[in-house]
Amino acid sequence: MTPSLLFLLFLFATTASPAPIALPLSTSSRWVVDDDGRRVKLACVNWAAHLEPTVAEGLSKQPLDAISKSVAAMGFNCVRLTWPLYLLTDSSFGSLTVRQSLERLGLAESAAGVRVNNPGLLDLTLVQAFQAVVSNLASNSLMVILDNQISKPGWCCSKYDDNGFFGDKYFDPDEWLRGLEMMATMFNSSASVVGMSLRNELRGPKQNVSLWYRGAEIVHSANPDILVILSGLDYDKDLSFLSEKQVNLSFTKKLVFEYHWYGFSDGGDWGSQNPNEVCAMVIGNITRKGGFLLEQGWPLFLSEFGIDQRGVNEADNHFLSCFLSFAAEKDIDWALWALQGSYYIREGQLGLDETYGALSWDWCKARNSSFIQRLSAIQSPFQDKHLPGPGLPKSSPYNMIFHPSTGLCIVTNSQLKQLQLGQCAESSAWSYTRQKNLVLKGTKYCLQPEGVSKPAKLGVGCKVSTAKWDLISSSKMHISSNLTNNGNNVCLDIDDNGTIMTNRCKCLSLDGTCNPGSQWFKIIRSSREVNDQIFKQHRSQFVQHSANVMADLDFAIGEEALIYYHSSTTYGLSYPIHRGQVENWDAMERFWQQCIFNYLRCDPEDHYFLLTENKELKNILRQRHKILKMIFFHPEIYNDSFTTPLPAIVDKCIQLSPIDTRRALYKNIVLSGGSTMFKEFHRRLQRDLKRIADARVVTSNAQLNDDVKSQPIEVNVVSHPFQRYAVWFGGSVLASTPEFYDACHSKAEYQEYGASICRTNPVFKVTNRVGEFKLGLLPYNNDKPFGIQS
Ligand SMILES: *[C@@H]1O[C@H](CO)[C@@H](O)[C@H](O)[C@H]1NC(C)=O
Ligand SMILES: *[C@@H]1O[C@H](CO)[C@@H](O)[C@H](O)[C@H]1NC(C)=O
Ligand SMILES: *[C@@H]1O[C@H](CO)[C@@H](O)[C@H](O)[C@H]1NC(C)=O
Ligand SMILES: *[C@@H]1O[C@H](CO)[C@@H](O)[C@H](O)[C@H]1NC(C)=O
Ligand SMILES: *[C@@H]1O[C@H](CO)[C@@H](O)[C@H](O)[C@H]1NC(C)=O
Ligand SMILES: *[C@@H]1O[C@H](CO)[C@@H](O)[C@H](O)[C@H]1NC(C)=O
Ligand SMILES: *[C@@H]1O[C@H](CO)[C@@H](O)[C@H](O)[C@H]1NC(C)=O
Ligand SMILES: *[C@@H]1O[C@H](CO)[C@@H](O)[C@H](O)[C@H]1NC(C)=O
Repeated sequence: MTPSLLFLLFLFATTASPAPIALPLSTSSRWVVDDDGRRVKLACVNWAAHLEPTVAEGLSKQPLDAISKSVAAMGFNCVRLTWPLYLLTDSSFGSLTVRQSLERLGLAESAAGVRVNNPGLLDLTLVQAFQAVVSNLASNSLMVILDNQISKPGWCCSKYDDNGFFGDKYFDPDEWLRGLEMMATMFNSSASVVGMSLRNELRGPKQNVSLWYRGAEIVHSANPDILVILSGLDYDKDLSFLSEKQVNLSFTKKLVFEYHWYGFSDGGDWGSQNPNEVCAMVIGNITRKGGFLLEQGWPLFLSEFGIDQRGVNEADNHFLSCFLSFAAEKDIDWALWALQGSYYIREGQLGLDETYGALSWDWCKARNSSFIQRLSAIQSPFQDKHLPGPGLPKSSPYNMIFHPSTGLCIVTNSQLKQLQLGQCAESSAWSYTRQKNLVLKGTKYCLQPEGVSKPAKLGVGCKVSTAKWDLISSSKMHISSNLTNNGNNVCLDIDDNGTIMTNRCKCLSLDGTCNPGSQWFKIIRSSREVNDQIFKQHRSQFVQHSANVMADLDFAIGEEALIYYHSSTTYGLSYPIHRGQVENWDAMERFWQQCIFNYLRCDPEDHYFLLTENKELKNILRQRHKILKMIFFHPEIYNDSFTTPLPAIVDKCIQLSPIDTRRALYKNIVLSGGSTMFKEFHRRLQRDLKRIADARVVTSNAQLNDDVKSQPIEVNVVSHPFQRYAVWFGGSVLASTPEFYDACHSKAEYQEYGASICRTNPVFKVTNRVGEFKLGLLPYNNDKPFGIQS
């Protein structure tokens, strides 16, 4: 074994699924299932053995067992092994040995290669060598589908090769049926041979809808265990005639249809037209010509597709992303063209390099490991339990968000902070809701855009319009949010590091040279067991996170709370602030959490907060302590009471100020906050304050000489339309000044000095004698409610 193969094995060993399959296979609606009824997804690769030498390709390059092992290591679970009819029906082939067959074609070098790499095969007959290949694949736990590619050995398939349909020069139907029967019988006790493709790519002027499925009964009766796989007409690109009339066969649960799809054969102009439009059109055509069978409850095996794996063919690159999105969405069974990195001889060329080959020219490593990596996304079934389909019970799977141009899926990192691309096996479970939210299943988090060229985030405010995602463009593979009101939408995208971003939507139409690949996502259904360990890890981190910060998210505030309350009996209503005082600190903490985590969507550790509060002197310090502790996450129970009327508080506050500022302060009392919005609040405060001030003037004048009387004090309470938001306005102006940051206290300072830190305010350099009157949450302790005019 060469070092490079070891590398390959190492690289892919972890992706191989060890779950044993109970053979034989059969069908259940559109799915292939094993003997225990569990889904088996055919993730195959085509291995050619039908060209002129009639020997499986590559045996001159690598030992058979090494080839089988690299098939398994690349994550495939089966091989579609091609064979030419004459291998069995023409005795002049059947009697040849591998050495003779290669030498008669002048392939002495290949014969020498087989002698070195597979000495045991060199002098076997072609049939024995074919059986050896099947049995080696079986011993590596690979299933085998035998595909009759052609009659006369050689490269397939063209209009002019006389192998296209019954009655063509090399396609004698009786000989063909005889050959099929021989092949089916030959492997009637090989459980690993799970199916037979009866004939590859029926085609040509003789093709006939009333005859095309011949062979099915003969194969089934020769080997009732195997799947009978029928190719469509027109190079296996047309099964549309089945929408009218199904085939009439004596057996059930063994019939599979196959279909071939290449970028060059699908009628789309992948090279120069807009990829969104081509993808949509081609998928539409394929659905009409074969895909509809899935909806009718038939398995459809995409038994050939492939691209130039050097990545040099832009048309192929666009095609592959479109193909992968379809294959993932439909969770279809498939076979890649091809395994072989090179041929002994193909169309007259010795050692031809197969640029579509999964293996390199020398068969010793993957031709393009990033291609295999991408393909691995569709190697495991997305749906493996509670299979849906006509005649099957309904299931409730979740969604994955698949990114076909990388073959990865959107995953959340362990802190649920960042969204990035990761292995689909570790995909987060999403649900794309009726309200167009992309919700992380089992949580209240949903996907939200932050802005153009900014990472997308998870947030809990899912009702906002920006958290709603449309599937746009003809391909419907752009996931778009209306980020701004002026019609500017953004699309999910990735940056170089695979972080999920939102950017301006690109390539929605027109320009065919534009590559939308990074913005192509497909929301697919999955019932895969969510990787338990990862889920539990998420879960426990989530729970821990919650315990500290989020507690229980099942609550709402404001109008939303009223809606919840009135629409369901399971919600209670609580008013954490009563008469201007915080009474329910638990609810208040949740209120702040909701504001910080949900609406502002920020991590408090990364931000400064400006705290404003009630100026009721008796309680102010305790309230501040409380809020500080809460913001720094040490909530505790608080009890409080107060008895002083508001005008007395204001008066006392002014009296505590320097004497030369007092008159100016009385003259300029500004109201702010919702609780000052009562009718005539300002007039009443002004009147009561004036009484107190006048009384003080009268008292002091009574003690003074007549010639030094105090002037009356002008009291003026200012009310204005924005007073409800005045604290917010003032606060935001203050918080946006550079000086604000000098005035902030950090958590570290708080921990160093304790609650006393809130007694000093570096902005004002005074203690509790502030020039601003924030009356927003003040109580009014008279026996009459304040808002009623006396
Ligand atoms: C397989 O075919 C051979 C030859 O026709 C027959 O003798 C044998 O019973 C078959 N085995 C099974 C398991 O059907
Ligand atoms: C298809 O085969 C049927 C039955 O042999 C025959 O009647 C019919 O003419 C054929 N159609 C074509 C287009 O060859
Ligand atoms: C199916 O074929 C059987 C036997 O060839 C025949 O008796 C039956 O009428 C056919 N059914 C239909 C629906 O064509
Ligand atoms: C595919 O469908 C389009 C219409 O959507 C049609 O114009 C075109 O001819 C079809 N191509 C093929 C190859 O069926
Ligand atoms: C593999 O494919 C990618 C994407 O198509 C391409 O960029 C890269 O060059 C290819 N690598 C090799 C070794 O061909
Ligand atoms: C986004 O805006 C478009 C055009 O105004 C509208 O058709 C679409 O429904 C909006 N999408 C969402 C999710 O609100
Ligand atoms: C990707 O990650 C690297 C290393 O962490 C970093 O230097 C670079 O800025 C990142 N690129 C983007 C687009 O975020
Ligand atoms: C309320 O606070 C006062 C002063 O801090 C304290 O003495 C009293 O025990 C508290 N009452 C309750 C019910 O916690």
